[in-house]
Amino acid sequence: MSNALKDYLSFCQQRVENALAQRLPKTATLPQKLHEAMRYCVLDGGKRTRPLLAYCTGEALGIAPERLDGIACAVEFIHVYSLIHDDLPAMDDDALRRGKATCHIAYDEATAILAGDGLQALAFEVLANDPTLEAPAAARVQMITMLAKASGSFGMVGGQAIDLDSVGMTLNLAELENMHIHKTGALIRASVNLACLAKADIDSHIAAQLDGYAKCIGLSFQVKDDILDEESDTQTLGKTQGKDRDHNKPTYPSLLGMNGAKQKAQELHEKALTHLSIFGSEADLLRDLSLYIIQRSH
Ligand code: IPE
Ligand code: IPE
Ligand code: MG
Ligand code: MG
Ligand code: MG
Repeated sequence: MSNALKDYLSFCQQRVENALAQRLPKTATLPQKLHEAMRYCVLDGGKRTRPLLAYCTGEALGIAPERLDGIACAVEFIHVYSLIHDDLPAMDDDALRRGKATCHIAYDEATAILAGDGLQALAFEVLANDPTLEAPAAARVQMITMLAKASGSFGMVGGQAIDLDSVGMTLNLAELENMHIHKTGALIRASVNLACLAKADIDSHIAAQLDGYAKCIGLSFQVKDDILDEESDTQTLGKTQGKDRDHNKPTYPSLLGMNGAKQKAQELHEKALTHLSIFGSEADLLRDLSLYIIQRSH
């Protein structure tokens, strides 16, 4: 990772940690177990890639990080909700997440379902009300609509449904890509596009190029996730390695072989960069972030 991105990542991780902690219900607030579970899953863990993307998009567009805290929290709340449900016995049945026990293991299944539900609702409340957004009502409605579409049955949730229906099947490349674009790509794309909506007078060509960039890295993110599931180890990942193979999930390495999957990730990175060619150095963090996504170790 470039030094510039490393520094910016630490800055964003700290920033979003505080912002998340402030917006989550306090543990002492009833129902206590539910609020404790929500805080347990959100705080102190994860790479915070989606918040980082929102802040880096802000750097490219000249939007101050202070104005993007609400968006960063909203996308992370949806992401953590998706992870809690993804780990449930009815889905991937995972016991380890971000180096600690998954929500349904640390608490119980009902609490895990409800913690996910609570985080999802909180994400939309933040977009509707958060003062840091400084956005007029019409822009907030656009943001809420965008996040709802990215998360719902035509976005992440739809992708998860395809994922579960595809167990033990051989998908072709187009089908696999469609699954990944939805289950992971949609929320990553929204992390960039929500930041674009925070700029009232954004040029439509610039917004389209950033969307093109976001589509590429949304897919490369899951290609790399599949590669890491095969190649990395449980300690480094903070989640159980080898689950995709165990569960007979169609993945990029299973379809294209490991070299083919790595080549695909590289191609997506290069394509992502072409969308940034209209920018100068203000988009360097986004450039570095695309490379980081395909080179990361966890
Ligand atoms: C894992 O996401 C699940 C996918 C959508 C691929 P991340 O790799 O972003 O997980 P955290 O947030 O860093 O734990
Ligand atoms: C999950 O994909 C995507 C989500 C919407 C959570 P995976 O099932 O591959 O994510 P991990 O590997 O468990 O983090
Ligand atoms: Mg899954
Ligand atoms: Mg999983
Ligand atoms: Mg995975």
